[in-house]
Amino acid sequence: MEQREAIGNYIKTRTELLQALSLNIEQGNDERELKKFKEVVGFIDQVLQIIESLPCDREVVFLDCSCGKSYLSFVMNDYFRRHLTINAFFYGVDTNEILVEKCNSIRDILGYDNMHFISSRIIDVQLDKPVDLVIALHACDIATDETIAKGIKLDAKYIIVVPCCENQIRNRLKSGHPLVDLTDFGLLRYRFADILTEALRAQFLSGAGYIVKLVEVTSPKYTPKNLMIIARKKKGISKFNMDKYEKLDEMFNTEFVLKDFFEKETF
Ligand SMILES: C[S@@+](CC[C@H](N)C(=O)[O-])C[C@H]1O[C@@H](n2cnc3c(N)ncnc32)[C@H](O)[C@@H]1O
Repeated sequence: MEQREAIGNYIKTRTELLQALSLNIEQGNDERELKKFKEVVGFIDQVLQIIESLPCDREVVFLDCSCGKSYLSFVMNDYFRRHLTINAFFYGVDTNEILVEKCNSIRDILGYDNMHFISSRIIDVQLDKPVDLVIALHACDIATDETIAKGIKLDAKYIIVVPCCENQIRNRLKSGHPLVDLTDFGLLRYRFADILTEALRAQFLSGAGYIVKLVEVTSPKYTPKNLMIIARKKKGISKFNMDKYEKLDEMFNTEFVLKDFFEKETF
């Protein structure tokens, strides 16, 4: 908690950064911006806990998927530049060209030459540097799955996502699904879909050779979308084992999208 407070207090002093991002985080102002601030602080707190384990003799490369206005990467970069000795580079990717252009111009205003924003679908993005950490904060629906798939394909050491909408499973639970009676009630359908979706993602990462941990990125009083999946690549894993993922997928007849990003022979 102390570290979170320190990160939050530091960010509040960074007027130039907050102005460039047009982020107003004072209590009582826009609730959405305050919520984003809390999520960003919680995210950075988790990254700081693992960053020590990464090599410090070379650049550490981040890929922020569905970066949007890139609050997360800008704030993280700003914090790292002033508090850590690591040499970090940030890629941001988003399909929204206007936002990507805006991010590149904010980068120029702040003079952060270790950031580069690209307009592309996550799964298709082409990068010059090998990536260490793939991150995503509220990448909508299957954009979170693209992030996970891209991270696995890039052989990232860490894949860290805070998902938002879980529409895939929710929509399947409505239409003639054997479990539809269980989830007849809106709120239960939402909760059930959330749990099943995140369990599938966690098992997929596990099957692809990652050690997976689930934590809360911030208090649920700020957002119900506060679940964070932290996946760390195990050493020496060359083959996937998707037994648990497949069992879950079959049991609930999910037809979940994750496998579609890989060639059939991968499994
Ligand atoms: C809810 S916003 C989150 C933005 C940012 N990460 C944040 O926390 O403020 C989701 C973003 O995902 C982008 N997006 C959706 N699908 C995408 C995809 N397949 N590839 C890249 N970007 C995508 C949208 O353009 C949008 O900017």
